[in-house]
This record gives sequence, structure tokens and C-alpha cells, in this order.
Amino acid sequence: MFLMDDIVRDGNPVLRQEARKVTFPLSDADKKLAHDLMEYLEISQNPELCEKYKLRAGVGLAAPQVGVSKMMASVLVPNDDENEKDKPLFKDVIINPVIVSNSVQRGALTEGEGCLSVDRDVPGYVPRAARITLKYQDVDGQTHKIRLKNYPAIVCQHEIDHLHGILFYDHINKENPFQRDDDEIFIY
Ligand code: CO
Repeated sequence: MFLMDDIVRDGNPVLRQEARKVTFPLSDADKKLAHDLMEYLEISQNPELCEKYKLRAGVGLAAPQVGVSKMMASVLVPNDDENEKDKPLFKDVIINPVIVSNSVQRGALTEGEGCLSVDRDVPGYVPRAARITLKYQDVDGQTHKIRLKNYPAIVCQHEIDHLHGILFYDHINKENPFQRDDDEIFIY
């Protein structure tokens, strides 16, 4: 299982590399990596376990963030609806993900973004596509093509950025971090 000490922090060159494509069938090492990436999110979203293991809660974790430069990331976006708690808005390990189309409309999280690899708070809006069509392979090599909007779309874009050496603050407008564009939607 991954702990905070296993998570690579900003400044490590692996976070700025283009990750390699993953080949199928997955090696045992890649299967374990996929499992452990998702396990981190599950444990970190359980308040008791999160505290016990001193984790930072996360909704996504990309392989380069644990020092492995491969195109794999776990995403677990919980459902805030009390009655739908067991139905996450999105949950999968996305392998070799490609965004095949982006909406013209842009969106940003009202609170800005954070990252398990970035210990400091970097304020500012991170403009992204409000909706995406995402193509990826799961751990079984099955190809999925899905439409995502709002928060799950933002999280997947953040994770896919990690596979291309991009960090969230790269997208923040340096002169005016809280600039709002007319056409941009704000996601809470
Ligand atoms: Co991140």
C-alpha cells in the first residue's frame, strides 16, 4: 500500500516526463500498481483510515506520482449524495487514456485544484474543458469510450496531465489567477 512517503513531490523530474504507454496483458507488476493506485484513493477517502495512515485524501493518483512513468492513473470520484454513497460518480483505473474530444465550453473548480504531489497551496482557477470524451483501457485491456462532465471530467483531465508531465498550476493565469471568462462555468 502507498503512504505519503511513497508519493513523489513537485521538483522530482518524473513528474515532468512523458509517461510510456502500457502494454497488455498487464505484467504482474502493472497489475499490482493498478491495484495499489486505487487502494490509496479508497483508503484516503475513509476518514478513519486516512487519519490512521496519515494520508492526504485524493480523488486521483497517477503512476508518475509514485515514481512510475507509465500511462496509468486511478480515479475515484465519490458521490456526495448520502443515498448514493456506494455509487461513485466515476471509479476506474484508466490506462493509456486519451481525450478524444473536448467541449468548447470551459470549466474550472471554484476552489481551484490541489495535488498530492504539490504540498503548497497554489490559488487560482484551472480552466479545463467542461466536458470530455475519454477513451482508455481498463486493467483487463477492455477499451472504454465515455462522456464525462463537470467534476469527474476535471479530475480525469488533471490525472491525464500527469501522464504528460503537466501540473495543475501550469494552467493558472499568472497575471490574474482568478480571471473569469464569460463562457466559463464554475464547478463546486
Ligand atoms: Co495531481
